[in-house]
Amino acid sequence: MPLLPLPKHRTSREDVVRALKARHSEDANWREGRTFSLVYYAGEDVKRLLEEAYTEFMSENGLSPLAFPSLRKFEAEVLAMCASIFNGDANVCGTMTSGGTESVLMAVKTAREWAKNERGIERPEMVVPISVHPAFEKAAHYFGVKAVHVPCGADFKVDVNAMRAAVGSNTALVVGSAVAYPQGVVDPIAQIAALAKEKGILCHVDACLGGFILPWAKKLGRDVPAFDFSVDGVTSMSADLHKYGFAAKGASAVLYKNAELRRHQFFTYADWPGGMYASPSMTGTRPGGAIAAAWAALHHFGEEGYVEQAKGMLATTDTFVNGIKSIPGLKVFGDPPATVVGFGSDTLNAWELGDAMEARGWKLDRLNKPAGLHIMVTPAHARVVEPFLRDLRECAAGLTAGQPPPEGSAAMYGMLGAVTDAKQIDSFVKDFLDGLYEVG
Ligand SMILES: Cc1ncc(COP(=O)(O)O)c(C=O)c1O
Repeated sequence: MPLLPLPKHRTSREDVVRALKARHSEDANWREGRTFSLVYYAGEDVKRLLEEAYTEFMSENGLSPLAFPSLRKFEAEVLAMCASIFNGDANVCGTMTSGGTESVLMAVKTAREWAKNERGIERPEMVVPISVHPAFEKAAHYFGVKAVHVPCGADFKVDVNAMRAAVGSNTALVVGSAVAYPQGVVDPIAQIAALAKEKGILCHVDACLGGFILPWAKKLGRDVPAFDFSVDGVTSMSADLHKYGFAAKGASAVLYKNAELRRHQFFTYADWPGGMYASPSMTGTRPGGAIAAAWAALHHFGEEGYVEQAKGMLATTDTFVNGIKSIPGLKVFGDPPATVVGFGSDTLNAWELGDAMEARGWKLDRLNKPAGLHIMVTPAHARVVEPFLRDLRECAAGLTAGQPPPEGSAAMYGMLGAVTDAKQIDSFVKDFLDGLYEVG
């Protein structure tokens, strides 16, 4: 990598801001609903409130509750509100983290410590659906926990019989998602939790994506199965405030059935010449802005505001789903109860369809096994649903008529699908990551 010398001289505030804005203009245009992941935008008013809350506490560090009692209170209140949203009792507790991945990492690390200390398990395993978020694989990789993957059924929900068969004497944890990222469905949490209880092991519900939409969907009369602490046997949950909680980036909650479990998450070190060190989660410094902005979002929306947002997003999702189903050759995967939908085709190449849509300015995530496309509906999508469906219909018709797809990622997905050597794929993707760090 060629070196980039630090500028010799100062740059004025105005010039720095101008340069920042110039780069910003190259980014995905999420305000207009053309992207379907990464950003959860609830309008300019909410964005301004989050900016105010975030900047007010931008310099504060949640690592020290003694120096910043405000952050301690915000965090404790955010967690107590989450416990109440997820039907916990007064024993439910947790910590805030930087995001879904950190929450999942902490839940797995907690399970590992619990298994070792309470069950004497030295080589812990966890049984997870193939649809579970890769954060669990990352946790397995980081913490030396073996991830045992089990298949999903035709409805894309985990096969609980397969899960039962995979549970062994080293299993510390079983996991279900509510909702799972790929097809947006809820795993059979009641059955997974009952299995965990029967075996005397832990059960985590990953509600990072669905945690701040399913409760409101249920209140609106949708058919949402129980997925939270109301289910006997659920011992921990993760739920992201920075997704459908519409908080600023860097905010998630990991919750436990009781404080004894949470103690397995904490890290302390007393022998450091720098003094007594205690850290509740993975990161050291914990940005105060993210904690304060999450508290601000929960108060600003309240149950009333979240239910209202959910009502709009669910109606938009229905329009997307019905529209996709009405397009010849396309099908929606499973029966998603919330705002996350996967779709594909038995006759068309879904990745080529994704490239054709991308050429028209729509950024859709790609699904694999089966090939598909992915939408996560936010308030920004209400006004694009009609043009989106029109473009989707035209692109599908074009491919059906034999029009060649525009160049995009379909070829790469096809190529990766054909490679059976996992090491080769790993190396290819690592090359891609390497390339991201080129200056320019
Ligand atoms: C179900 C689920 N779990 C965990 C995560 C990880 O969240 P984050 O990207 O905030 O780390 C995601 C992200 O999309 C998710 O969908």
